[in-house]
Amino acid sequence: MAGNLRVGIIGCGNMARHHVDGYLVSGRYDVATLADLDENAMREMDARFGIQTKHHRDARAMLDAERLDVVSICTWHTGHAPWTVTAAASKPKAILCEKPMAETLGRADEMLIACHRNGVKLVIGHQRRFLPAYTLARDLIARGAIGRVSLILSFGGQGLPNYSSHQTDMFRYLLGDEDCRWVMGNVERKTDRFERTTRIEDAAVAVFEFERGARALILADVTPTLFQGAHIYGTDGLINLTTEELQLLNAETGGVWRSHRPDGRFFTLAAEGEKFEWREGAAGQAAELADWITGAADTHRGHAENGYKALEMIHAIYESARCHERVMLPLQTRVNPLDLMVESGHLAPQRPGPYDIRAFLLRGERLWGDDPDRERQPE
Ligand SMILES: NC(=O)c1ccc[n+]([C@@H]2O[C@H](COP(=O)([O-])OP(=O)(O)OC[C@H]3O[C@@H](n4cnc5c(N)ncnc54)[C@H](O)[C@@H]3O)[C@@H](O)[C@H]2O)c1
Repeated sequence: MAGNLRVGIIGCGNMARHHVDGYLVSGRYDVATLADLDENAMREMDARFGIQTKHHRDARAMLDAERLDVVSICTWHTGHAPWTVTAAASKPKAILCEKPMAETLGRADEMLIACHRNGVKLVIGHQRRFLPAYTLARDLIARGAIGRVSLILSFGGQGLPNYSSHQTDMFRYLLGDEDCRWVMGNVERKTDRFERTTRIEDAAVAVFEFERGARALILADVTPTLFQGAHIYGTDGLINLTTEELQLLNAETGGVWRSHRPDGRFFTLAAEGEKFEWREGAAGQAAELADWITGAADTHRGHAENGYKALEMIHAIYESARCHERVMLPLQTRVNPLDLMVESGHLAPQRPGPYDIRAFLLRGERLWGDDPDRERQPE
């Protein structure tokens, strides 16, 4: 449509579908072109959304050939920095790159620098900032509905960079983007465990302290459950938060739980069910990006500085485990401290043999066959 922003997507797997959905639902974009090593991935995308796009097996060729306003980067984590730096050189207006921002803070810095030098707006896909329950929690906390926040408790797993970078991002969002002061944590890694080719731990526990004294805790793979959301303890009340629901208990509710299940700007919970968090998050993220590009908004709540800080807090857990100390932020270490620990022999796997918990995502490796209609929502 005339006036719409032209988008190209690099990496057309699971998460790219949510990007495309968000772009189309927001009504502000034309998804013009796709790049993937696998032609079937691109064909499936066209068929799923009823769009006609130009296909490129080489993303560099796509960037050279097309004049794009926005580039989405939806490859696995180690592709985020190289593709962001490469895409920035073609000077689109914006890049929306998936989380975790990069595999090291050094590489995340390169992404910031490349985008800054080329005048490109960079957003990292922590799309839960656009969930109405999260934003309601942030607003209630800002209004003092639970007093001063003393503890935010979250349960993670499946890799700190992968799953819990959403949680470190959520802590800051809930606290009005307050910065984290220090991190202390430990990891267990007896098996040689990877996630989308990124080395991860078997289990972890971490404590964070924020500027105004709030603390947060992540328990990862040490309890049977994990969920995106949190139990939030304040001096005058409590909030239980999930991706769909917020329960509040304070003096105003008479000391009993009051449930809120807010609908989104684009979708209702009743109509979308489990898909709500994905569809609403993607559409909100895309719409605010269009506003940022056109000047209707001064910033984007997922701008790269926030994605960087979410990753920094995760790598500070690894650095705390490596140095056996509380780590003050900003973190100075530019490589991945977990890699350092393992490769130096400090944390050698006791049960050798690498395995990847997301190996099933590789095309041709899915245990149930390559059924494009099968909904899978790994983080
Ligand atoms: N924001 C979220 O909530 C969320 C949820 C799931 C995944 N993710 C992130 O999205 C990213 C992708 O994960 P996924 O589950 O979609 O993976 P996926 O395996 O489903 O898709 C990745 C795609 O990238 C393609 N690809 C790989 N190398 C390429 C290259 N050089 N050029 C072009 N295409 C290439 C693959 O062929 C594949 O189609 C990950 O970093 C993951 O952390 C984010």
